[in-house]
Amino acid sequence: MKFKAIDTADLAYFAQVTGPEYTLGSDRDLENYAHDHTEDLRFAPEVVVKPANAQEISAVLSYCNQHHIPVTARGAGTGLSGGALPVMGGVVLSLERMNKIIEIDERNFQVIVEPGVINEILQEAVRAKGLFYPPDPASKGSCFIGGNIAHSSGGPRAVKYGTTRDYVLNLEVVLANGEIIETGANTLKYSTGYNLTHLMIGSEGTLGIVSKIVLKLIPAPKNTMLLLAPFTSPEKACEAVNGIFLAGANPSACEFVEPDGFRLSSQLLQVNFDIPEDVGAYLLIEVDGNDGDQMMTECEVISEVLYQHQAIDVLFAETANQKEYFWKLRRTIGEATKHNNTYKEEDTVVPRAELPTLFKGVKEIGKRYGFRTVCYGHAGDGNLHVNILKDQLSDEFWNKELNAAIVEIFSLCKKLHGTISGEHGIGLVQQKFMRVVMPETNLQLMRGIKQAFDPMGILNPGKIFNG
Ligand code: LAC
Ligand code: ZN
Repeated sequence: MKFKAIDTADLAYFAQVTGPEYTLGSDRDLENYAHDHTEDLRFAPEVVVKPANAQEISAVLSYCNQHHIPVTARGAGTGLSGGALPVMGGVVLSLERMNKIIEIDERNFQVIVEPGVINEILQEAVRAKGLFYPPDPASKGSCFIGGNIAHSSGGPRAVKYGTTRDYVLNLEVVLANGEIIETGANTLKYSTGYNLTHLMIGSEGTLGIVSKIVLKLIPAPKNTMLLLAPFTSPEKACEAVNGIFLAGANPSACEFVEPDGFRLSSQLLQVNFDIPEDVGAYLLIEVDGNDGDQMMTECEVISEVLYQHQAIDVLFAETANQKEYFWKLRRTIGEATKHNNTYKEEDTVVPRAELPTLFKGVKEIGKRYGFRTVCYGHAGDGNLHVNILKDQLSDEFWNKELNAAIVEIFSLCKKLHGTISGEHGIGLVQQKFMRVVMPETNLQLMRGIKQAFDPMGILNPGKIFNG
């Protein structure tokens, strides 16, 4: 599709809408907004626009819709599928100035926020009032709630509490033509026609730009307990995961980590995390609640399952510092891998009981094609992040032949009734694999929805279903 290139008249219009200090066009500014956390990809926008409110977003969108200028919404730029990359140039519309927590409604257990609020800041603000917003992506210290909505982000606690999707009650959205709508109601139930709220969640900025968000909160559990269990066999560790749930436990996190994951994150963090040679995998398991005895009983049930699956040991984190230390090691794996090597990250997800088969299959495919992987992730969700490392592989292999291996990994996900992304989205880099898990009929339905919301195709073009 051909879009109009941005000219000085367009720049003058954007500057008039946002005020000149919030419409940026220097080479340095454009470079700053040319990348997110996806590999080393770079696509520079023609201009960066930073609106202060829904009315300014509306003015920018209605202008771009009339002039056929692409607009890519951007949160904190922590995405892992290239969703915020302006692949067709045009406007990057950054939500960074819209960072207010508008209201914590303690009476209704709700919070109203702007899209540029950082996940962890929101979590802390509601926790100060005894309330809990569970979704906690690894990038929680920097990612925005708006970006979390764009991908329906998860994180370790999703296993007990669900993903972003499960906490969004209502959205204010600016449509491509500039019209501002609410997608639903601020209610816990909604049976009023098609659910436009849920349609927006995970739509990666292709259907509209979210300008206000109403989130559900729950009472905050008062305590957590954290277990770290090394295993000789990674397959046994994967099998233990389902065993935990079959034994009736309901952990608030159940993470799998291959030793290389902790090796890389401890190196980056410059801490001494000793990994004995016989360790093939770790499980990091959290239990939360208010009743210490009950939590201890749950930990005992879990420990028993872990030992039944040949855990070498089950270590309890004794202090808040130790818990934070283990979590920091866990959260840093993605960043540490990137720091150490060129890599591609796949966000495979299967029904939980199929995790051992997925893990074995990934390793077998890696062996056959000759690449190394570091696997880790939200095992309790059947969500395995597969980091494929470039090491000494040729560019030719990396850019061409590797695709066939990724198709094999994703075909295995499909065969196991899983899919190609659990929480990172499709964005730019996964769209060529959509057909592995989805027939043309589904893609046509999605294109029809896109056409209804954005007939001129200005919103985040080149994403999700163009591969
Ligand atoms: C994590 C991110 C990569 O789980 O999703 O660390
Ligand atoms: Zn993750």
